[in-house]
Amino acid sequence: MCSRFRFSASLFASTVCFHVCSVMPVNSKREQGKDVAVQGTNDSSVVSKVSAAAQGYFHDDFLKHFVCKVSRRAPLINRGYYVRWKAVDHCVKQFFHATISCSRRQILSLGAGFDSLYFRLHAEGALGDVTVFEVDFPEVARRKAALINSNTCLKDALPDWDALSNQQTNAVFIRSGHYNLIGVDVRKEQEVEATLSRAGLQWDAPTLVLSEVVLTYMETQWSDAVIGWAAKLLPQSMFVMYEQIRPDDPFGRVMQNHFLKLNSTIHALKQYPDTVAQTHRFIQKGWEKCVCLDLNQFYFDLLPEDERQRVSGLEPFDEFEEWHQKCSHYFILTASKGSVTNQALLTLPKASSIPHMTPQWTERPPLVIQPMYGSPSIEAVGMASAVLAPGIILLTGGCGRNGRDTAARVLIKEKDGWKCACVEAHGDKVVSLYQTLTSIPGGGAVLLGGRTSPLNPTGSVVWVTFDPGNEQSAVQLSFENTMTVVGAVPEARHSHSACPYGGGLVIFGGLGKGGRPLCDVFYLRPTSSAHVINEKLVVVGGVWLQADGVPGVAVINLNTGSCLEIQLDTDWKSQ
Ligand SMILES: C[S@@+](CC[C@H](N)C(=O)[O-])C[C@H]1O[C@@H](n2cnc3c(N)ncnc32)[C@H](O)[C@@H]1O
Repeated sequence: MCSRFRFSASLFASTVCFHVCSVMPVNSKREQGKDVAVQGTNDSSVVSKVSAAAQGYFHDDFLKHFVCKVSRRAPLINRGYYVRWKAVDHCVKQFFHATISCSRRQILSLGAGFDSLYFRLHAEGALGDVTVFEVDFPEVARRKAALINSNTCLKDALPDWDALSNQQTNAVFIRSGHYNLIGVDVRKEQEVEATLSRAGLQWDAPTLVLSEVVLTYMETQWSDAVIGWAAKLLPQSMFVMYEQIRPDDPFGRVMQNHFLKLNSTIHALKQYPDTVAQTHRFIQKGWEKCVCLDLNQFYFDLLPEDERQRVSGLEPFDEFEEWHQKCSHYFILTASKGSVTNQALLTLPKASSIPHMTPQWTERPPLVIQPMYGSPSIEAVGMASAVLAPGIILLTGGCGRNGRDTAARVLIKEKDGWKCACVEAHGDKVVSLYQTLTSIPGGGAVLLGGRTSPLNPTGSVVWVTFDPGNEQSAVQLSFENTMTVVGAVPEARHSHSACPYGGGLVIFGGLGKGGRPLCDVFYLRPTSSAHVINEKLVVVGGVWLQADGVPGVAVINLNTGSCLEIQLDTDWKSQ
């Protein structure tokens, strides 16, 4: 199972710049420039959310009214916005459920940007007696108010708002029965408090405070103050926050640089680098309970299987390493004050479907990789290879520039270099990606698993027998489905690893149905082939859901089940 350790800024949506002129009363031109850049993150968010909605990841008929043009983002970006949207939506629905018997409820969305939460919930009929208060910089609030005023679909959702007679007063850009739009810098606590009071926020009513990638854009002293201020003023409330974590691994560094280049530094990462630190932060700032999950935990443990299946089928997708890495670098947090909102906290199932591992890193001498010069150039991704005999290598599957290979290839070492021969296999046994081919003692190799599409892992086990021939006759290969598996059959998988062991083979991990990383180990022993050395299985790289770092080398003792992890230097740069 091979992991790609490089991450590029294409993992994040690029910012779409609208020309905005700031009227913020800020100290310096530099600070003013930063605030304008931070406002630009809203433009990027809304374009990405519209893209995900257009591809069917979630239903929202209103977001598109906040962009000039519907653009299509890469599947990885769409998935990222999907899981973000879903996590926030999950918490909103939990809050609604927990506070259903309360006569007045509120949502206070900080840095709401062009979010369509109010319009969507109103159309769904889910809003009931809930009143929404949105706060953003005055410039963003002004633009949003103007967009709402110029669009019938949006305006129709505010039947009691008369834009003409309801001119903006004292930073309240829209004042209506269930929707209020406020233009204030949330760092200005007193101004926020006074404006919200004027707009009709009831401080003692159950309130959901939402901050979706907002507070991290301000220096930590300010975001800490907002978290403390909300705990102090809202005795029956739930804080929902979605932001980044884990700045210190390769993905985290690319993520930080991306935002740095946009002049929108993400500040909270330094002081609060993980879910534990974020949880302590909220408790210290006056919240009674707090649950913080990374997005892998949310996706695998709180979304139902059929929903994950639905999403898997929306777009061709094959970037599972990046996807799991991305999900481990964002969190969804719920913190509560007061008994009512306690019930709305995120709750994980008792048995998590994500295996818990605590890697124990060990210092080892560096591993050395040496290219083999003079070998024929065969370009393909997802190809499998095995040494059939000294100087004879079989290659199967994979996808080259012209698509999938239907033929297997044999590389034969000769005196003056390597010769390559094609072998037509009957049927579709080798027409697959990310299968494994494992030499087994006594001759031949076992071809296992693979996939015909990212959604379609196969469970086939094919025995490849091999006759080395002699000087006159060619190498003979036959592909036979004759491997009968007795006992527990490994589930269909691709991108796993397999290695010869004790006359058979050991199979480890891979991706199963729906892209779920598997962590099982099977010993397939023929009754009539990772690498096992002295009863120890050595596994290199792979996809995992653990938040800490990227997979390195794992040495699993097959007798005791104990595991030793060796980190690889993932910052290695090519010369
Ligand atoms: C990444 S966007 C997120 C928008 C929205 N929450 C969403 O998820 O779609 C960040 C938003 O926070 C707002 N924001 C950042 N700092 C702010 C501050 N000090 N006061 C008010 N709004 C702020 C920005 O203007 C921007 O609209």
